[in-house]
Amino acid sequence: MILSIESSCDDSSIAITEIATKALRFHKKISQDSEHTVYGGVVPELASRLHAVALPRILEEARPCFSDLKAIAVTHEPGLSVTLMEGVMMAKALALTLKLPVIAVNHLLGHVFSLFIEKEAQFPLSILLVSGGHTMILEARSAFDLKLIGRSLDDSFGESFDKVAKMLNLGYPGGPIVESRAKEGDSGKFAFPIPMQKTSEVVFSFSGLKNAVRLEVEKLENPTDQDVNDICAGFQKTATAHLLQKCKKYFKQTHPKRFAIVGGASANLYLRQEIESLCWSFNCELLLAPLAFCSDNAAMIGRAAIPFFENERFTSLHQLEASPKNSLF
Ligand code: KG4
Ligand code: ZN
Repeated sequence: MILSIESSCDDSSIAITEIATKALRFHKKISQDSEHTVYGGVVPELASRLHAVALPRILEEARPCFSDLKAIAVTHEPGLSVTLMEGVMMAKALALTLKLPVIAVNHLLGHVFSLFIEKEAQFPLSILLVSGGHTMILEARSAFDLKLIGRSLDDSFGESFDKVAKMLNLGYPGGPIVESRAKEGDSGKFAFPIPMQKTSEVVFSFSGLKNAVRLEVEKLENPTDQDVNDICAGFQKTATAHLLQKCKKYFKQTHPKRFAIVGGASANLYLRQEIESLCWSFNCELLLAPLAFCSDNAAMIGRAAIPFFENERFTSLHQLEASPKNSLF
């Protein structure tokens, strides 16, 4: 079995995955949403201190499986340095005391493998990754072959939901709150411009849309609940339309046979529905992770570590370091 640790942002999580069957034997996650909500976003130092308390607590629960462990996997990049460090330090300590090899897992690869928890992997695969830190289209041929097709030039899709929620004093994380307020809103009331319609490239941008929302919010002195719902609906429709337009461009160029959406924001049901129609019209199979594994978790890190274990791709302890940057592409 592989014990995996995830602490790249504000979720402390540990999982134990059986190597041969891919079965998830243990999985626990402690989220810090309630601690960060008053700040309208994640405070890195606070997140780090909360990991230092939560991770050892979860580890205690996983202890009965220790004798069956063959490796320790840990998210080492990209993310917040101070929070990644908590997981990396724990991985080093466990590897030393239990005399086990370490597998350093890239967080974005982890999101890709959220599709294959307790399952065989399916490659080649085109992927829309939408999280709080990233918005990108990727092509994957294996766990070791990931190619970047296009990414956001500024904010990410999930981050733009967080920022709109902050402008409207709705709390953190913004994604689920904005999605649920949008259900009650009229998406035609505030017509925001769809970003980057004129560029033919597969690139994303959400900062212009965020500013357009800010201007409308500032115009409303005392927004009613219905105003807030209408803004959320208009924003979600426009942000999703931008993703869809760019994905359609990619589909026309590449005609993928298999497509997936991963990352925290892939839990958005409106986005799922729109991508489902796109895939249907291009006769493309759509893969989705279970809602419970869209946001950050250690189960996806453990699942991504299996091909590394099978290929003996271990990281030596003195080379294992937390890094805020993505080194894959
Ligand atoms: O993957 P994730 O847990 O963390 C990162 O790797 O960044 O993604 C978190 C992001 C947050 O920005 C959150 O607001 C967004 O995913 N998110 C959503 C939804 N649920 C979470 N965005 C839109 N709609 C949702 N339902
Ligand atoms: Zn993530």
